[in-house]
Amino acid sequence: RPEPIDASDAKPEAARKVKIGIYFATWWALNVVFNIYNKKVLNVFPYPWLTSTLSLACGSLMMLISWATRITPAPKTDFEFWKTLFPVAVAHTIGHVAATVSMSKVAVSFTHIIKSGEPAFSVLVSRFILGESFPAGVYLSLLPIIGGCALAAVTELNFNMTGFMGAMISNLAFVFRNIFSKKGMKGKSVSGMNYYACLSMLSLVILTPFAIAVEGPQMWAAGWQNALSQIGPNFVWWVAAQSVFYHLYNQVSYMSLDEISPLTFSIGNTMKRISVIVSSIIIFHTPVRPVNALGAAIAILGTFLYSQVSPLSSLSLFFSSLPIASCS
Ligand code: 3PG
Repeated sequence: RPEPIDASDAKPEAARKVKIGIYFATWWALNVVFNIYNKKVLNVFPYPWLTSTLSLACGSLMMLISWATRITPAPKTDFEFWKTLFPVAVAHTIGHVAATVSMSKVAVSFTHIIKSGEPAFSVLVSRFILGESFPAGVYLSLLPIIGGCALAAVTELNFNMTGFMGAMISNLAFVFRNIFSKKGMKGKSVSGMNYYACLSMLSLVILTPFAIAVEGPQMWAAGWQNALSQIGPNFVWWVAAQSVFYHLYNQVSYMSLDEISPLTFSIGNTMKRISVIVSSIIIFHTPVRPVNALGAAIAILGTFLYSQVSPLSSLSLFFSSLPIASCS
């Protein structure tokens, strides 16, 4: 006979589910808005190194203000903290800029289809670089992920090698970010929100000189004038929106981590990609062939299978969502 359910237990559980539902809905919605404004900006202002830098600068500024005004208590950090954060920030910077370069060259949907292959990179890096081995089911789940991504890539109408490689590099960088994050966050008292804030700041310091070297103020000034003449003053709001929403979606994804298991989180991240892929196809009228959509569906299904069978899913997918955190 089933145990009688205590009504006093059921109520907090129901409230928790509502809270998690709100976190997920907010996280996906913020991510969709980020992706749309990011692409709108890149379509008229193809300088992904600057837009990536501005996203980090905006998040850093928002957090500095919230520390100064004590909306959020500032973290207590030492040299050791920043030293262990450094490799995480290098990987975060590479993963972020590579994804943005990708989106400047191909459809948002294509970048996210390739990014849904991130679990495959987790397994391959863990297997061939860290020497870990996995149950056969894990390797089998990689077949639909890799096969689906490959099918989607070869049938992509607007395929571009830089766009493809950017998404692949982002996958690889985020896997390393996750590995370094595991070490960096272990036993640390800094909250998820503040950890991400520090990560944004350090990434900003790392990225700025490279952005100046690769693109530089002259290109930016000319491009900015051109974008303003095409779009008008609204262009400035688009840039502000992509920067603010980048920080917010990453922050909310971090907050949701406090409430849910890593596995639920990883499934949430995959669902996020579905909502980004579908909404960007609708908004940007991205041409899609049935076989191309089939490839994306197979890859995403493979990610679900992976999350069910992988011992990594509890940790590595947890961190694959970290904006450290794509915690996304
Ligand atoms: C970025 O610019 O960092 C990427 O768009 C991150 O993508 P993700 O958070 O969906 O992994």
